[in-house]
Amino acid sequence: MIEFKNVSKTYDDGFKALKNINLHIEEGELVALIGPSGCGKTTTMRMINRLIDPSEGEILVNGENIKKKNPVQLRRDSGYVIQQIGLLPHMTIEDNITIVPKLKKWDKERYSKRVDELLNLVGLDPKTFRKRYPSELSGGQQQRIGVIRGLAADPPIILMDEPFSALIQLVESNCKTNS
Ligand SMILES: Nc1ncnc2c1ncn2[C@@H]1O[C@H](COP(=O)(O)OP(=O)(O)OP(=O)(O)O)[C@@H](O)[C@H]1O
Ligand SMILES: [Mg+2]
Repeated sequence: MIEFKNVSKTYDDGFKALKNINLHIEEGELVALIGPSGCGKTTTMRMINRLIDPSEGEILVNGENIKKKNPVQLRRDSGYVIQQIGLLPHMTIEDNITIVPKLKKWDKERYSKRVDELLNLVGLDPKTFRKRYPSELSGGQQQRIGVIRGLAADPPIILMDEPFSALIQLVESNCKTNS
């Protein structure tokens, strides 16, 4: 369970990005933040894994203030699909997907099986894609890898920041080509 209690964020330059946010998200719930560009969606999300700390108020996960949690552990337990995709260019697709499982000391058999499972889930053939580098994939394919990287270690919390925007762009450009 995730709870925001009177959370505000003022950035270092004095800009008030969030004012008095209250949120209550139950286990198993899927919540989408919707709002115009710059309204504070990414800021809200990045506070859940402590990439940004609130200026006021508190955030609880399972009843515990996340300020008291180890940020590294908190991040390993929260899958995060970032807005800019952010695949590591010098690492293969398999290595990108297995960053957190390896940090969690999964054995090779377990993480290899997981790579197959996840690639199949997003319609990419493991034989073709696992040893490629990100630059050898289309934008939408890269974004699908970004999404499954966030799911890889089966975390209790998954944060996704516009995870399908590159896919929408592809659909739009295909529609233009076809019309
Ligand atoms: N480090 C920073 N310093 C000052 N202002 C910031 C900083 N980071 C973000 N902001 C501002 O805070 C506001 C919220 O930004 P945020 O990235 O949370 O928006 P968003 O809702 O995710 O937007 P988008 O839909 O464009 O991704 C924006 O006006 C942004 O310019
Ligand atoms: Mg954003």
